[in-house]
Amino acid sequence: MKVLVTGGAGFIGSNFVLLLRRARPDVEIVNVDLLSYAGNLENLRPLEGDEGHVFVRADVADRPAMERLFREHRPEGVLHFAAESHVDRSILDATPFVHNNVLGTQVLLDLARAHGVRRYLQVSTDEVYGTLGPTGAFCEDTPLAPNSPYAASKAAADLLVRAATHTHGLDAVITRCSNNYGPLQFPEKLIPLMIANALEDKPLPVYGDGLQVRDWLHVHDHCTAIWTVFEKAAPGAVYNIGGESERTNIQVVKLILGELGKPESLIRSVKDRPGHDRRYAMDARRIRADLGWTPARRFEEALPETIRWYLQNRGWWERVRSGAYREYYDRQYGGRVV
Ligand code: NAD
Ligand code: DAU
Repeated sequence: MKVLVTGGAGFIGSNFVLLLRRARPDVEIVNVDLLSYAGNLENLRPLEGDEGHVFVRADVADRPAMERLFREHRPEGVLHFAAESHVDRSILDATPFVHNNVLGTQVLLDLARAHGVRRYLQVSTDEVYGTLGPTGAFCEDTPLAPNSPYAASKAAADLLVRAATHTHGLDAVITRCSNNYGPLQFPEKLIPLMIANALEDKPLPVYGDGLQVRDWLHVHDHCTAIWTVFEKAAPGAVYNIGGESERTNIQVVKLILGELGKPESLIRSVKDRPGHDRRYAMDARRIRADLGWTPARRFEEALPETIRWYLQNRGWWERVRSGAYREYYDRQYGGRVV
């Protein structure tokens, strides 16, 4: 079988491609990625010389380029990871989110249909459901109520997938997962940012009171869930994927400092994110009941293991944190914490 993976040079996409080539060498991968600021070919270095993996640099919203790609490679399945993924960037400028996340999804849906793709999987997020109070959890039937421009662009894409199934009969499925962590995550996201800043003895910027809650899912668990849904789900299905590891941000930051033996005096409370979602939690009973998937990693062990990865791969994130990243960091944090 041959599948098209989009965004396979980013955090989750590259972990997915690396794991799938190891676990399923019979599945050939065409990996298309624009190599935006978050795309990093270094992530794919272990696949050099692997004839079952072909990398193509292109924009998924570029219809002629995607048309050529579908004609040439004839994928039987599409797994769509590519997206602008960072909430804070969407607050600074939402336009690339509409282009990449909304238009990009529609182009892929159209081509999947035109080229007779057997299955299309949309990688979505718990953020499409909005925010929760102190109790309860999102289930797949929770109404979509996105709050940030990023979340709105992901919800729009989910609705286009739904429409392609309903109107055109495309065999498409959607996965919605909670916050991922693990190796190769771009250090603008909470966990790698806090690890990298702590290792450099820089301040750790915590938004507002730090009591916002996220449900942490190891990226490898997310990848196995995606492949399970891709292989086993019924057409049109939607599955939540959760990590069963709810933590407040301040708990996570203190755990990281403790692991690294760094002082809590590095923590800085900074201005809150506008429209900040207070709490996410996933009811993931459906994927367990229907497909038998549950997360294998426990946050208590997998967070220290992740921290060790960033310690052992310091060159990776130091290279990422040079250049354009610095301009973003200064704009986002207003020079307050560096
Ligand atoms: P990421 O930002 O690390 O990687 C995104 C990748 O997509 C990059 O390699 C980038 O170059 C590529 N890309 C962006 N626009 C593109 C375009 N127009 N054409 C081709 N490639 C393009 O993101 P991630 O954290 O790996 O997220 C992957 C997917 O998972 C996204 O759809 C995101 O919404 C979703 N998701 C992420 C998380 C998380 O915690 N990181 C949680 C839930 C869902
Ligand atoms: O929930 C799934 C989503 O998780 C994905 O759809 C997104 O692609 C992914 O970026 C992530 O979104 P979050 O906004 O939850 O992740 P982030 O790492 O940016 O922030 C996690 C929490 O930490 C959030 O409450 C904001 C807070 N935070 C973040 C940063 C970068 C801080 O307090 N300080 C920071 O500097």
